[in-house]
Amino acid sequence: MLTGVSRVPLRRALADLPAYVPGARAAVGAAAYKLSSNENPYPPLPSVVAAIADAAVDVNRYPDMYATELTEAIAHRLAVVPASVVAGTGSVAVLGHVLTAVCEAGDQVVLPWRSFEAYPIAVTLAHAEQVRVPVLPDGRLDLPAMAAAVTDRTRVVLVCTPNNPTGPAVRDAELRDFLAAVPRDVLVVLDEAYVEFVRDAQAPDALALFAEHPNVVLLRTFSKAYGLAGLRVGYAVARPRLAAAIRTASTPFGVSHVAQLAALASLRAERELLVRVEAIVAERTRMLAGLHAQGWAVPDSQANFVWLALGDRTVTFAERCARAGVLVRPFAGDGVRVSVGEREATDIFLEVAQEHAPR
Ligand SMILES: Cc1ncc(COP(=O)(O)O)c(C=O)c1O
Repeated sequence: MLTGVSRVPLRRALADLPAYVPGARAAVGAAAYKLSSNENPYPPLPSVVAAIADAAVDVNRYPDMYATELTEAIAHRLAVVPASVVAGTGSVAVLGHVLTAVCEAGDQVVLPWRSFEAYPIAVTLAHAEQVRVPVLPDGRLDLPAMAAAVTDRTRVVLVCTPNNPTGPAVRDAELRDFLAAVPRDVLVVLDEAYVEFVRDAQAPDALALFAEHPNVVLLRTFSKAYGLAGLRVGYAVARPRLAAAIRTASTPFGVSHVAQLAALASLRAERELLVRVEAIVAERTRMLAGLHAQGWAVPDSQANFVWLALGDRTVTFAERCARAGVLVRPFAGDGVRVSVGEREATDIFLEVAQEHAPR
């Protein structure tokens, strides 16, 4: 029994924050395909499960606080120095640490909208102000407008590529123009959570841009292509001075021992995992082709999801999908994001899409 009501004042900014809405899950015992959280539909590889089991026997100990072996393996893989890599509890946590490391109260963070729903929350929690720049009707980021939104109060610009939930990736030429226009003391975060799914030949090589621009930071994750969403491992790639500041701002021991060993095993199994990524990309192509054949105008997704700008019909459509056995992610009044998962799930989704097709 609890007695009394807490009278401790809460931070006023929290009252205005939208809650992060997790993708719908199937009710216990109900069968449904979960296409609502951009997860990898494949279960972990046996070698990764074995690494997780091995790590389990050590969980009475704290993990290596700096995830040294994993950090070194990522650095080796990306051909950067280990001092440039900071691992954290998923890239969403790392984003929070990046903002905490650079933002003073009242600084502005320019971000595209609609984009990853965690951005407004992370910016507010970092005591900064968000400046939203609408994405273009084709789901692409409006990089010239984002550059124009930078003022002397701007500390960070978030570039989500591919953009969640609309799907397109930025192009190399436009990103180079953007970086040339942004002052060098403004941090540009390239959030590349879905980079392994990109097949657009004009997409940038973010590591090359990172090498050329000291104000560029990359965010990547093991949650999507590597299928470790449940273990929470992501990382930033930043110049060592900034990386050290991000580490200072990080939750101590944020990456568990189990997560560190699973991520290392995933890097070792990368070839096998990238075969799965290829299959997901092929399924995305099939999903997009099916939608185009039905007359839908959908953005050019370079990620593991597609976007239907359904406006007022969003919630009805998502409910119809759920009744048919696929859970999708509605953004009320705006559109529905559908993750690319199992083949059968695509078939069910396309049947529902056909019922609502423009022609
Ligand atoms: C654009 C983007 N960035 C970051 C993340 C966070 O991923 P995680 O915290 O699992 O690494 C997501 C997850 O959905 C995302 O869509």
